[in-house]
Amino acid sequence: MVTPAKILIVEDDANLSELASIVLSKEGYTVRVAGDGPSALELARSWAPDLVMLDVMMPGMDGYSVAAQLRALPQTATAPIIIVSAKQTLQDKSRGFEAGADDYITKPFEKAELLLRINAQLRRTRTLQTHQPDNLSHLITVFSLRGGVGTTSLSANLAAGLRLLWDEPVALLDLSLPIGACDVMLNVKPRYNLGTLARQEYTQLELEEIKDHMVHHESGIDLLGGVVNPTDAEFVTEKLTTFLVNHLMTDYRYIVMDTSHEFSGPTLTALERADEVLVPIAPDISSVRTAAAAMRIFDDLKLDPDKIHLLLNASFSASGLKSEQIEKALKREIGHVILHDDAWTESVNTGKPMILNGKSGAGPVLEDLIWELSLEADRGKNPPSPTPMWKRRAERVKKD
Ligand SMILES: Nc1ncnc2c1ncn2[C@@H]1O[C@H](COP(=O)(O)OP(=O)(O)O)[C@@H](O)[C@H]1O
Ligand SMILES: [Mg+2]
Repeated sequence: MVTPAKILIVEDDANLSELASIVLSKEGYTVRVAGDGPSALELARSWAPDLVMLDVMMPGMDGYSVAAQLRALPQTATAPIIIVSAKQTLQDKSRGFEAGADDYITKPFEKAELLLRINAQLRRTRTLQTHQPDNLSHLITVFSLRGGVGTTSLSANLAAGLRLLWDEPVALLDLSLPIGACDVMLNVKPRYNLGTLARQEYTQLELEEIKDHMVHHESGIDLLGGVVNPTDAEFVTEKLTTFLVNHLMTDYRYIVMDTSHEFSGPTLTALERADEVLVPIAPDISSVRTAAAAMRIFDDLKLDPDKIHLLLNASFSASGLKSEQIEKALKREIGHVILHDDAWTESVNTGKPMILNGKSGAGPVLEDLIWELSLEADRGKNPPSPTPMWKRRAERVKKD
C-alpha cells in the first residue's frame, strides 16, 4: 500500500476549506485544515504535509509570508505549495512564486482543475525523490569474481540477519546472471522475478508495482528473485539496476544485492552504488588470485577502499590458506573468517539461511559481520525496543 499523500489546506473561509477537504479526501488524500498562518505553520511542523494549498488573503499573516516560512521549515522545505487566491494579476502571481510557491490557482476554480494540479505537483516530487534518494538507505553488495565461495549464501544471510537485527524494511535483490539462486536459498518460488520485470516496459513502473514482482519471505524481508530463465538475462541492464536501486531506496532501509561473478553492467552498478561491498574469498590459491584481480579492478573503478570488506569463507574445505597468508598476498586486511561447516550446504538444501536456524557455530561471526555492515546511524542509536539479536550482541561486547 502506498501511504496516501498528506495535504494541508490553509484557508480562512471555512466553507471553502470544507469543500476542498471533501473533494481531496474522496480522492484518497489525508487532509488537514488550518484557518490562519500561525496554526498552518504549527501543523506543518508537527504533521509534515506532502503538499500545501495556501490562501493569500487571511487575517493576520498573509499567504506570502506563510509560504516563505514553510520553505524555511525542514518539514516542508521541498513540499509543493499551491497558492489558491482570488487575486489574479500577474503581479500577485509573481509575488506568490517569489515567496516559494510552485503553482497558482485562481478562485473560483473547478474541482477537476484543483485535482489535476495537485496530482501533477505530487507526481513531480515523487520523481524527484526517486532520483535523489535520501541517504537513510544502506546498500550492501556481495561480490566475488569467482563462484562457489558463498556469495549467494552470504547475501541471503545478510538480508535476513539485517532484518533480525534492526527490524527495519530489508530488500534482497538477486542480480546474479544468467541465473539467480536467492529464491532457492530462501525456499520461495517467486511468480515474477528480475527477468520478467526486465522483459517489460518497466520505466514507468511505480514502487508498488515493483513490489508486486517481489516475494515476502517469512523472515520479514522482500526478495526480488533473480532470473530463472537464462534467456531473460540479456534484458537485465545497468539501466534497470539503477532504476530498481533508486526506487527500492525510497522504501527499504537496507538493500542487499547478490551479484554475478563477472563485471557486467548490473554488477558494476551494484558495486558503484553500494555503501558496503562484501567480498568472500575461499582459502585457496585460485580464489586469492581472482580476488587480487578483482581488487585491481576496484582500484580502476575508484571504489572507496573503506567500503570493501574481505571475508575468508572456507566454502570448499576445512583446510587451506590461513588468513595471514591471504592478507599478505592481497595487502589487505581480512575482517571476518567463516569456518567450513556442512551446515551451510544443509541450509541451502532446506532453504533456511544459517542465521535463521540459530544453532550454527557461525552465528556470532555472522552477527558481527551484519553489525559491521549496518548503517552508522543505526549502530550508534539505542533502540527503544531492541531485538534479541541486538541484545545478544550487546552482551557479547560487554563480555569482551
Ligand atoms: N563456510 C562454508 N562451509 C561449508 N560450505 C559452505 C560454506 N559457505 C558456503 N558453502 C557452500 O558452498 C556452496 C556455494 O555457495 P554459494 O553461496 O552458492 O556461492 P556463490 O554464490 O559464490 O557461487 C553452497 O552449497 C554453500 O552451502
Ligand atoms: Mg551465487
